Amino acid sequence: MTAPLIDTVVWGTGNIGRAAIRAIEAHPRLRLSGVIVHSPDKAGRDAGELAGLDRELGITASTDVDAVLAASPKALVYAASGEVRPNEAVDDIIKAIRVGAVVVTPSVYALYDQRNAPADLRDPLLAAVKEGGGSLFVSGVDPGWGNDILPLLISGVATDIDVIRCQEIFDYTTYDQPDSVRWLVGMGQPMDYSPPMVAPGIPTMVWGGQIRLMARALGAEIEEIRETVARRELEETVTTKLMGDFEKGTQGALRFEVQGIISGAPRIVIEHVTRIHPSCAPDWPMPPTGDGAHRVIIEGNPRIEVSVEATDENENRSAGGNATAVGRLVGAIDWLAEAEPGLYDAIDVPLRPAVGKFAKPGA
Ligand SMILES: NC(=O)c1ccc[n+]([C@@H]2O[C@H](COP(=O)([O-])OP(=O)(O)OC[C@H]3O[C@@H](n4cnc5c(N)ncnc54)[C@H](OP(=O)(O)O)[C@@H]3O)[C@@H](O)[C@H]2O)c1
Repeated sequence: MTAPLIDTVVWGTGNIGRAAIRAIEAHPRLRLSGVIVHSPDKAGRDAGELAGLDRELGITASTDVDAVLAASPKALVYAASGEVRPNEAVDDIIKAIRVGAVVVTPSVYALYDQRNAPADLRDPLLAAVKEGGGSLFVSGVDPGWGNDILPLLISGVATDIDVIRCQEIFDYTTYDQPDSVRWLVGMGQPMDYSPPMVAPGIPTMVWGGQIRLMARALGAEIEEIRETVARRELEETVTTKLMGDFEKGTQGALRFEVQGIISGAPRIVIEHVTRIHPSCAPDWPMPPTGDGAHRVIIEGNPRIEVSVEATDENENRSAGGNATAVGRLVGAIDWLAEAEPGLYDAIDVPLRPAVGKFAKPGA
């Protein structure tokens, strides 16, 4: 007897949400049963159109959260923004867990390492699990599989290890998010500007959980988490396709690390290198090709290096990364649906082969 399909709702249809609709549509065990949107002009539109598919899926988007949840979906991908509205995002997630849904999301940084989340955040989620029987798994690509299960998998073939370094190396030239790029990351700002993304404590808030997850899996003790930040200025004004000019003398590249200290030295390191143009900081790490990559380097014997370059939505590397974040989350739903209700992290949830996902001929 084949198991019934798992009715799955997508909440939010931005970068992550539209990839989630496509991933559910392609998954042999899942069925898209609803789409929740925030913007009124998306209400009533077909999910296939919102996801950039060339066909309708027969599910229309709704702004009525309660009506969609009243159908008690078995699963829900929470893809509404959480970095700027974490409390509201958690309230939304609690609603879905209360109706018994398995919730997967990349939206709440403090919950990637849920075991170490503050009690005032975790306790209401545990109460919702008890009350409704749903579950929660928070993950993505970075933070996410690029700095939890990928390095851990590769560590399994090492002889001895000095440092595990996880890198995200991205050129934002084609990234159409001017607010994030200019304000949050500080590209194009004077060199005395302090980018909020690297304000003291913020990198640890976002990526510290990943360091703890890796240490837990490796049986290592983290003594301390440290941060480093470096910035470089543009030597020439550069013109981007989507965001206009970035002036000579302003910030053109940002590099930061979150370091897990073991035996007094950085041994588990998460590093980000972000540029607005490849001409800035050419001596810093570069992706092997194109605009971006995730990389794991295990310094030790043997030295091991793995780079991952994902592309989607017309050869776009950011979309490729987002699609893999979604793959990790949507791919976990059927496993979570069979597991006990609860809060899960990336060490708990296995990454399994893509059973049944070879595209149908002609699809
Ligand atoms: N860890 C990772 O690897 C990773 C990767 C990418 C993103 N993320 C996280 O995932 C989340 C989604 O990212 P994204 O790139 O998809 O963002 P996005 O493209 O900006 O989309 C976010 C969506 O949130 C909805 N939304 C906006 N304001 C809202 C509000 N006030 N109330 C309810 N919904 C609202 C909108 O939905 P509608 O358009 O449907 O109305 C919007 O499209 C973010 O929190 C981001 O930090 C994590």
